Amino acid sequence: MSTLVNHTFDVEKLRKDFPILSREVNGKPLIYFDNGATAQKPQSVIDAVNRYYSYENSNIHRGVHTLSQEATSAYEEARRKIQKYIGAQLSEEVLFTKGTTDGINLVAQSFGKHFLKVGDEVVISAMEHHSNIVPWQMICEEKGAKLRIIPIDDQGDLIMDEFKQMLNSKTKLLSITHISNTLGTVNPVKEMIDLAHEKNVPVLIDGAQAVPHQKIDVRALDCDFYAFSMHKMFGPTGVGILYGKKEWLDQLPPYQGGGDMIKTVTFEKTTYNELPHKFEAGTPNIAGGIASAAAVDYLNELDWEAVRAHEKELLDYASDQLKTIEGLRFIGEAKVKASVISFVVEGTHAYDLGVIMDKMGVAVRTGHHCTQPLMERFGILGTVRVSFAFYNTKAEIDTFIKALNRAIKMLR
Ligand code: ALA
Repeated sequence: MSTLVNHTFDVEKLRKDFPILSREVNGKPLIYFDNGATAQKPQSVIDAVNRYYSYENSNIHRGVHTLSQEATSAYEEARRKIQKYIGAQLSEEVLFTKGTTDGINLVAQSFGKHFLKVGDEVVISAMEHHSNIVPWQMICEEKGAKLRIIPIDDQGDLIMDEFKQMLNSKTKLLSITHISNTLGTVNPVKEMIDLAHEKNVPVLIDGAQAVPHQKIDVRALDCDFYAFSMHKMFGPTGVGILYGKKEWLDQLPPYQGGGDMIKTVTFEKTTYNELPHKFEAGTPNIAGGIASAAAVDYLNELDWEAVRAHEKELLDYASDQLKTIEGLRFIGEAKVKASVISFVVEGTHAYDLGVIMDKMGVAVRTGHHCTQPLMERFGILGTVRVSFAFYNTKAEIDTFIKALNRAIKMLR
């Protein structure tokens, strides 16, 4: 088991930044192990939302008045902060969306409409979230293109040899998750991007589950698109980011029509706005965008090496304890894992375990986790999933293991 070497990481101090972590649920201290679904928010993010509605509320990119100018510059400043945080070269490569799903749909519709034709192929994997399956099914069906699926092995690792063979002259795009929301598998995305680029295939990374666990660098990855949600990154709900290389975004048609995305409109013809606005039709989630900057400020203060060590320690500690439970089977034992653990327990239903543990204050996710094809691959209906964030502790894991054992006893 790894031990923390960096003593500057003070989890108890960090926990105080998140007001919800001190509440009780069903008369017990909350143990929040559902970070894969959404992460909790530090006070600074909550304050930023409050401040916007209390002092700045107005629409952006439209008004000459002071409030609108202030809101516009705060929103655009947030874009630049996010640009820096993810290592993008240009701020116009950073598009505000509603979330990861919205970002993937944008690429599927815009790229798909423009570049896909009959017989072309789009490659995804067997461990994708529905949001990285269904948008591709829809556009492939419309265009007569084919969806190819990279298989996984019993541990939950991609079978890379099959992936390599899948890339051919018909492949038009690879869209792959960085970290599996169900298995916790960390995919070798850099290697996959390089392999795809050798065949001139652009790559979209679904980074929804990566951004809470690590800092990403889109330029080092050299991905063509990278989609993620702010709410999984300790920011507000309803805001996502789609990074796209300018050379691609310039070529793609707009996703939606409306205000803000146009330059001129007549009934005969509309010309489109410049990047990034070409892809940002309508009034966005302004409060969420501005508060995203507070989330990025918060994350910039973290020692990410210490965060990774702490989360690794939580993953190892929880895995070791879970191994001692009779009849428990892990779903996902990949070589490289994020702090996400899925399991089933013989003689029990995941849903029942989740409901009973909730009575003891422990929040886990149960079900198929929006990965039904993955459930089919493992021959199960659903799992219990615990997903940790940097503010979780080993003491919380001890309580969770006790709660799980009690729940199992009640159900068997
Ligand atoms: N995709 C999110 C999850 O895995 C909601 O829980």
